[in-house]
Amino acid sequence: MKISLFGTGYVGLVTGASLANLGHDVLCMDVDESKITQLQQGAIPFFEPGLKELVQHNMQAGRLRFTTNTKDAVQFGSVIFNCVGTPCKDDGSANLEYVFTVAKNVATHSQGYQLLINKSTVPPGTAKQCHDLIQQTNSEAMIDVVSNPEFLKEGAAVHDFTHPDKIVIGTTSEQARGVMRKVYSGLVRPYMNLLETNWETAEMIKYANNSFLPMKISFINEIANIADRVGADVKTIAKALGMDYRISPKFLNAGIGYGGSCFPKDIRALVTKAKEHGYDACLLKSVDICNTRQKSVIVQKVKDELGDLTNKKVTIWGLSFKPKTSDIREAPSLVIIEQLLALGAEVHVNDPIAIEEVKKILGSKVTYHNSIYDCVEGSNAIILVTEWDEYRNVDFNVIGNSMRTKMLFDGRNIYDPALVKQAGFTYHGIGRK
Ligand SMILES: NC(=O)c1ccc[n+]([C@@H]2O[C@H](COP(=O)([O-])OP(=O)(O)OC[C@H]3O[C@@H](n4cnc5c(N)ncnc54)[C@H](O)[C@@H]3O)[C@@H](O)[C@H]2O)c1
Repeated sequence: MKISLFGTGYVGLVTGASLANLGHDVLCMDVDESKITQLQQGAIPFFEPGLKELVQHNMQAGRLRFTTNTKDAVQFGSVIFNCVGTPCKDDGSANLEYVFTVAKNVATHSQGYQLLINKSTVPPGTAKQCHDLIQQTNSEAMIDVVSNPEFLKEGAAVHDFTHPDKIVIGTTSEQARGVMRKVYSGLVRPYMNLLETNWETAEMIKYANNSFLPMKISFINEIANIADRVGADVKTIAKALGMDYRISPKFLNAGIGYGGSCFPKDIRALVTKAKEHGYDACLLKSVDICNTRQKSVIVQKVKDELGDLTNKKVTIWGLSFKPKTSDIREAPSLVIIEQLLALGAEVHVNDPIAIEEVKKILGSKVTYHNSIYDCVEGSNAIILVTEWDEYRNVDFNVIGNSMRTKMLFDGRNIYDPALVKQAGFTYHGIGRK
């Protein structure tokens, strides 16, 4: 099948390369010329495990190409994926300008029957708005709009796209459903759930998904904060909770709060959409408030231990919003670093991948280190912010030798407190000591 795709970010590039790998002929379009030039040379503009190889393999096989030409891209495929960004506006709502630009471009250049598939995360009502916009732009256009949200996670995006728990197809058009089944025919396995719904249900499924998971995180963080005050251990509490089959152990790791390009903006967009419809989504609002507050918890612990932070050196391990990605959008590290700087601390940072991204934001405000060990020299405290594997088995006996004071603030609860203490450190986790 010939497939066009708009937006070559995390979702678009993974979708395009994975669909090409299933044998489709894929043309990807992006307005970012430098990104497209890079991609045409087989380079990937961000880090995502396995993606570079997948892109290069399918480019060499002649099934995956890149362009900045809108008209060519619209007229290439019988189906067109819309994978552009939907960032958060100041009022919390989703900024849909890029989604609508693509819909308008598709209406303008479309020839014959085509599908416009919204893969971007968009609030309920957006597919209908795209449909109306297409009709207003070109009343002759024969375009079925489909809502087909994506559930991949950065760090495992290629695997997630090719092994989804579910494929959601939102359209009431039988013709469009038939085409969508063909798009995914190489992917659908007997155990895989394919859900066919209307537009609004498909759009809401994605928001429900991306609200439920942060709700679990904020819940366990709340339990951790109480555990801290009453002398309980949140890891053991979470383990016990996970033993209850109704709860499941996933997303019950207490820590410094969630970040990333999805959970924070999606939960705010749903709250705002609910408000537009006269509903006060108080549970979802609280999830967001708790998460914002959670990012300060570790800084407070550092202050409690070190007192005045002026001229104190603090080491940050991990900058990306989670391991195995270079993405720093809404990363807790940025908030924690800004708070430490405001308190007068000297901040030294390390990350296996994301340093270059952080330099674009923080510049010379912090000192960057490529070595985990160099980063701690003369430090008063280490804060583990992102649980990259590289940090899991560090030798605290060696680490401690070069530190001014041996303090570890474990923002992700990955270390065994007893082992860290054996190396002469004081240990502070989130909800555990
Ligand atoms: N990143 C994730 O983990 C993830 C997972 C599931 C869903 N989503 C959703 O998918 C969407 C895309 O997310 P992302 O992280 O890939 O975004 P991104 O910011 O990495 O990429 C978006 C791309 O769209 C391009 N773009 C903007 N306007 C365009 C236009 N008119 N034509 C062509 N290209 C255009 C941008 O240049 C950019 O390269 C969002 O709605 C997001 O919420 C993201």
